[in-house]
Amino acid sequence: METQHQFQILVANESHLDFAQIIVDEMESSAKARGTGIAKRSPDYIKQKMREGKAVIAFNQDGIWAGFCYIETWSHGEYVANSGLIVSPVFRKGGVAKMIKKKIFELSRKLYPEAKIFGLTTGLAVMKINSELGYEPVTYSELTQDEAFWAGCKSCVNYEILMSKERKNCMCTAMLYDPKDHYEPEETKQFFEEKKGMLERLLRIKQWKLLQPFLKKDHKDDHNPKMITVSRKRSLLHYFFNL
Ligand SMILES: CC(C)(COP(=O)(O)OP(=O)(O)OC[C@H]1O[C@@H](n2cnc3c(N)ncnc32)[C@H](O)[C@@H]1OP(=O)(O)O)[C@@H](O)C(=O)NCCC(=O)NCCS
Repeated sequence: METQHQFQILVANESHLDFAQIIVDEMESSAKARGTGIAKRSPDYIKQKMREGKAVIAFNQDGIWAGFCYIETWSHGEYVANSGLIVSPVFRKGGVAKMIKKKIFELSRKLYPEAKIFGLTTGLAVMKINSELGYEPVTYSELTQDEAFWAGCKSCVNYEILMSKERKNCMCTAMLYDPKDHYEPEETKQFFEEKKGMLERLLRIKQWKLLQPFLKKDHKDDHNPKMITVSRKRSLLHYFFNL
């Protein structure tokens, strides 16, 4: 058990099953509020993760539920995803997500020491937390190609975008920690700190671009200096986000 400030961060178990519904409801309403997609999960699925000891749950000092995250394995355990991170709105911006992600990362390393750990996110907060743990941004081709994982995206509002891009790209940014080949957390953290302004802009451009699949490119503008700048940005976008 980890206690920081007034929060308890625990590996979930049978005693937490009653919180499954509130967790699922909060995941759904938060996704709606943000206008982003989400791979929907049922309360039974969340309960199964709790029973298996593959989830982390947070409470405040009065035992009020504060947050949650769970582990999924893919490609016969070659990959592990830390998914479904959610913090109760009343406890946000207090470091709860950071504590949960640290705990679930440690649990993943303990249960699956050989596995590559990855996550998909649309948000800068999670990119920041992941960077502090040693994750780096990768293209989708470096993630598990397990059909069952990608099938989980079917319930997301952005699934059509994912398929139109042949599963090479979507609204989410992919980040990965490879235990056999990784940067030190200090390096990935520094990279994020130095580049976060650019990453935030790239995220916005990427999401705007993915929403405009029929945008026509006018080749006449190729000699226009402004368009050359756009072309350079495209190559950077391609490197990070496969655009
Ligand atoms: C994203 C979410 C999990 C963050 O939870 P949180 O407990 O507020 O996050 P933390 O307080 O641990 O913040 C971690 C860092 O991200 C930053 N951060 C938090 N929310 C942020 C936001 N909306 N935009 C930018 N940065 C943010 C914090 O300032 C903090 O940085 P710091 O270490 O420099 O202070 C929470 O807002 C949430 O549940 N959102 C809805 C569900 C969701 O988006 N889940 C992620 C799916 S991948």
